[in-house]
Amino acid sequence: MNNPANQAASAALPGHPFVAYRHDALHVEDVALSALAQAHGTPLFVYSKAAMLSALAAYQRGFAGRHAQICYAMKANSSLGVLQVFAQAGCGFDIVSGGELERVLAAGGDAQKIIFSGVGKTQAEMRQALTAGIGCFNVESEAELDVLSGVASAMKLRAPVSIRVNPNVDPKTHPYISTGLKDNKFGVAHEDALRIYRHAASLQGLQVIGIDCHIGSQITDATPYLDAMDRILDLVAAIEAAGIPLAHIDFGGGLGINYNHDTPPAADALWRQLLAKLDARGYGDKKLMIEPGRSLVGNAGVCLTEVLYLKPGEQKNFCIIDAAMNDLPRPSLYQAFHAIVPVALQGNQAMAATYDVVGPVCESGDWIGRDRVLRVAAGEHLAVLSAGAYCMSMASNYNTRGRAAELLVDGSQVHLIRRRETAQDQMRQEQLVAG
Ligand code: LLP
Repeated sequence: MNNPANQAASAALPGHPFVAYRHDALHVEDVALSALAQAHGTPLFVYSKAAMLSALAAYQRGFAGRHAQICYAMKANSSLGVLQVFAQAGCGFDIVSGGELERVLAAGGDAQKIIFSGVGKTQAEMRQALTAGIGCFNVESEAELDVLSGVASAMKLRAPVSIRVNPNVDPKTHPYISTGLKDNKFGVAHEDALRIYRHAASLQGLQVIGIDCHIGSQITDATPYLDAMDRILDLVAAIEAAGIPLAHIDFGGGLGINYNHDTPPAADALWRQLLAKLDARGYGDKKLMIEPGRSLVGNAGVCLTEVLYLKPGEQKNFCIIDAAMNDLPRPSLYQAFHAIVPVALQGNQAMAATYDVVGPVCESGDWIGRDRVLRVAAGEHLAVLSAGAYCMSMASNYNTRGRAAELLVDGSQVHLIRRRETAQDQMRQEQLVAG
C-alpha cells in the first residue's frame, strides 16, 4: 500500500464514475471485480449499466425540450444485453449491416428509430431494412441512391433517405478514425451535395428526409463540430432553397472519452454550444439526430485479466496476461492507450517495475500497454479500463481463442450477457472434407 505505483491507482478512476476502489478492492458499481474474476474466469468484460445510462443522460440533458433522437452507434458494442439497455431507454440505433439490424430487433429495439449508415450496403441488406421499416438510410454515394431507389421501387416502397455529406473538417484525431476529410471513403463531397440532392429528389423510389455527417471518432474538442455544423447548415439552406425540404439534421457521433488525460467536452456542454449556433442560424426547430457510440459505452466497461507470467528482460520486462489483441484490439490497431490497474491493491508484496503488458497471441503487435509501472505478481488480476467500446465488438478468434464472457452489472446485481466462447462454438460452422 505504501508503494507509489499503487497509491496512484487508489485514487478515484478518472472518467469512470462507476468504477472505483472500495477498501482497496476495485468495484464496478456495488460489485467487487475480484469475485467476478474468480466466478467467471478471465478475460472477462464487465459493464456498468448505470455508467451507460449516465452517459446517455448527458445527451438527454443537452437535448431537453428539443425534437431529437439519439441513435446509439452499435458498432461500438453490439452485445444484445448492451443494446437492450439502450432500447429500454428509448434510444434508436445507428446500424451498418444487416447483421446489426437483426441484433437490434432481437434486443427489442424499434425499427422506426434505426438509421442505416455505411458505404457498402448490399441490395439484400436494403431489402431487409425496407422490410423491417427502418427510419432512414444514410446514403453515402450517388450510385447507392440509384440502387436503393431501384430496390425500393421493386418492393413498391419509397426508401426514406438522408445523404451523408463530408464537411471536410479536420477532427484532429487518429487518421484511421477521422472520417470527414476529403480523402476519406465516406459521404459525398460538400461541393457535390446539392446536385446529388436534386438527383435523389428526382428518384421514384426515394423520399428525401434529412442530411447527415460524421466527422470522426474520439474527438476531444468542440471546434470541429462547430465548423462542421456551419458547413452543413450552409448546405441545408441551399438544398431547401432548391425546393427539397429536410425534416432532420443528423450530426453523427464521434465525441471522445477520457482514456489517458483526455479532456473531451461533456455531451450536454457540447450540445449547448451546438444548439446555440443552430438557434442563431434559425434552424433550432429542426429535428436533430445523433449517432454516439464510444461516448455512451467506452468508460462503462473494463476487461478483467489474469497475470500469467512475469518475464524480466535486459531491455524490457514483460507482464504476460491472459487477454490479448483478439480481445482488446485497439492498442495493436491504433496504438491506443488503455489504462491498466490492479484489481486488488492490498496483499501484494511485489516491487513496482515497468512492464510491457502483452497477451499470449503469437504476434509482436500483441501488446495491451507499454511501459506501465505495476506492482504485480503472477496469478493476480488486472483491469484494462475504457474497454466498453470497440473491444468486444472488434474481438476475433485469432489463435482459436474463444471470445471472452461479458457481464452487465446493475447495482449489486450481476447479469451474464454472453457466456465464454468455447472451441466447439468456434468450430460449429466448419466441416471436414468427406471421404
Ligand atoms: N456514425 C458513423 C457513421 C460512424 O462511422 C461512427 C463510427 C459512429 C457514428 C460512432 O462514432 P463514435 O461516437 O463511437 O466515435 N474502432 C475505432 C473507432 C471507429 C469508429 C467508426 N465509426 C476505435 O476503436 O477507436
